[in-house]
Amino acid sequence: MAPVPNPRMIYAKPIPQGAWPVVGEHLVYDNSRTIDPETVPLNGGFLTKALYLRTRTNAAQALSRTCGRGCAKSIASYSSPMLAGAPVVGLCVMQIVRSEKPEFKPGDLVYGASHWELYTVQPYMEARRIWNPAEWPWWTANMDDFGDAQKIPDPKGAFSLSKYCSVAGSPGMTAYVSWKKYANAKKGETVFVSAGASAVGSLIIQLAKLDGMKVIASAGSDAKVEYLRSLGCDVPFNYKKKAYKEVLGEHGPLDVYYDNVGAEALAAALDNMNLFGRVIICGQVAEYNVAPEDRFGIKNTDMIFKRNVTVSGFLAPYIAGEYMGQFFEDVPRMLAEGELKSTERIYEGMEAAPQAFVDMLKGGWDTAEGKVVVSLVGM
Ligand SMILES: NC(=O)c1ccc[n+]([C@@H]2O[C@H](COP(=O)([O-])OP(=O)(O)OC[C@H]3O[C@@H](n4cnc5c(N)ncnc54)[C@H](OP(=O)(O)O)[C@@H]3O)[C@@H](O)[C@H]2O)c1
Repeated sequence: MAPVPNPRMIYAKPIPQGAWPVVGEHLVYDNSRTIDPETVPLNGGFLTKALYLRTRTNAAQALSRTCGRGCAKSIASYSSPMLAGAPVVGLCVMQIVRSEKPEFKPGDLVYGASHWELYTVQPYMEARRIWNPAEWPWWTANMDDFGDAQKIPDPKGAFSLSKYCSVAGSPGMTAYVSWKKYANAKKGETVFVSAGASAVGSLIIQLAKLDGMKVIASAGSDAKVEYLRSLGCDVPFNYKKKAYKEVLGEHGPLDVYYDNVGAEALAAALDNMNLFGRVIICGQVAEYNVAPEDRFGIKNTDMIFKRNVTVSGFLAPYIAGEYMGQFFEDVPRMLAEGELKSTERIYEGMEAAPQAFVDMLKGGWDTAEGKVVVSLVGM
């Protein structure tokens, strides 16, 4: 076979803290490389062809604190940053083309971290950091450890493979495992889910409804409020029009708060917790792109002891193992049977990847209705 183009998206240079990446400057489509899928050396690994690329909110941190191979480490994050000058790394749905690993066969579908490029010899190398823990604060996780390729069931048309980038993939797993582990949900209780229309939030709403709870959820546009309603949410609201504290004061108290946003949403939830309430901190998207000195600053942490509240923060890779098997049994089946809903906004082709990434960072649904996913199917 003659060499074929191997398009990719490069994280070209660091993005100043607080700024948005610019397409063509920080995130660059590159079609200059070719690859021969039949002859490229596999070095004991395997060759994947990417089908869907998943964007993720915490990439904003990974990009903004990145300074290339000699990175300054002054800005706290939980994972090591991406490497400037290398392809962006993200979770991808891929198909095995060739393999020298007995556990992976050509045709198998896998989900895991990879370069944003069409063909990649795994394990990916170019964007991989030489990991020296001594260079980082002790709690920093190596970004390259977060997503080993794992086989995923072929839905055989029962649902689109793009769902593995949302409800059936890592956002869904994040929601599922954290809910099972920390919510201790009881029928008739009340939960508040911030960023309820996000991939994580929308599954939390559906799991809470299946557990018989009253669900309050926030989102940033009226269209998203309607989406929350379609998921069964009892009290959906637009946080840009109505203050968190006003809605929670009216419809609380809360037995569970599932935090995707932090800042004002977290402060309002703490003020409205029931006795023995549970706060699950999944993410704090409102402040990923805000310098530490400009952050909101929670002033009511006294509510944690005054209301006997349990606060559980987590990173999915640390807790996923316990419930992963159950997740892969439940969620694909529930999707196939129409019990769960999710929405993806598909951007077609690698050329569209930089814009997809920026749209996701700027608010996802405000510019794109659904979890932002790049499709390379047919390339
Ligand atoms: N702990 C973990 O292991 C883990 C793993 C994956 C994800 N997460 C976290 O889970 C959360 C959801 O992630 P996802 O991938 O599901 O997100 P997503 O589908 O990409 O949606 C993110 C949404 O966040 C909302 N948002 C952005 N800025 C906001 C602000 N200032 N205030 C309120 N809402 C804002 C936007 O919706 P609106 O238009 O409604 O504002 C945006 O569409 C994030 O906090 C993410 O970091 C955590």
